[in-house]
Amino acid sequence: MAPDRLLFRQLLAGRDFAIDDAMARSMANYSYLIADRETGEALVVDPAYRPLEILELAGREGLRVVGVVATHYHPDHIGGSLAGRSIAGIVELLGAGAVPVHAQEAEVSWIVASTGVGASDVVAHQPGERISVGALEVTLIHAPGHSEGSQCLLVEDRLLTGDVLFLAGCGRTDLPGSDPAQMYETLTRRLAAVPASTWVYAGHAYDAAATDTWAHVRETNPVLAPTTPAQWLAAFA
Ligand SMILES: [Fe+2]
Repeated sequence: MAPDRLLFRQLLAGRDFAIDDAMARSMANYSYLIADRETGEALVVDPAYRPLEILELAGREGLRVVGVVATHYHPDHIGGSLAGRSIAGIVELLGAGAVPVHAQEAEVSWIVASTGVGASDVVAHQPGERISVGALEVTLIHAPGHSEGSQCLLVEDRLLTGDVLFLAGCGRTDLPGSDPAQMYETLTRRLAAVPASTWVYAGHAYDAAATDTWAHVRETNPVLAPTTPAQWLAAFA
């Protein structure tokens, strides 16, 4: 649907915003803007470190942020306390103007606990639900494993994977809410229907490339090689 209307921006913390923030530079988180270039409406995915700078970047492109999508609860993605430091995120963004925060239902209590955002500010979604931004539709794929309610976002030919999948690895499965067996299911089944030509956009810049095709990631990423849960758990859990 209306592919020419998608305006997509991959923003690297410590490079594109929060440039003087040493932690942002070392953590290398990506935030994303998904916008309808005709209506100017935008979703911001995983705003952290300097959420108001992300709003400014959107504003400079003539965009109005109408919602936030949280891939998962971790403070380097949506704000909260990490390694003795308070990271700005969704709470500060909402302070500049109330917009809904879209999350998987299974992640809502984690997000509230981690950020202190009001539960009523978070819209709880079921797996597979879609949200609209202008004429665009974003499908929310429940992708547990890194966290209970991690989600990947599919918008046209782009898949945003948060910390579920990196181009050459996957997210940790030893954190609160993690589940290695669920991660195997996510990687091999829940993401199986994604078209081969889809571009993968991860939650961190851990790889030299900014993106790669799902076909090439499937071929080269070692976490996608095992064909049984036992193999996967032995290698990566
Ligand atoms: Fe994470």
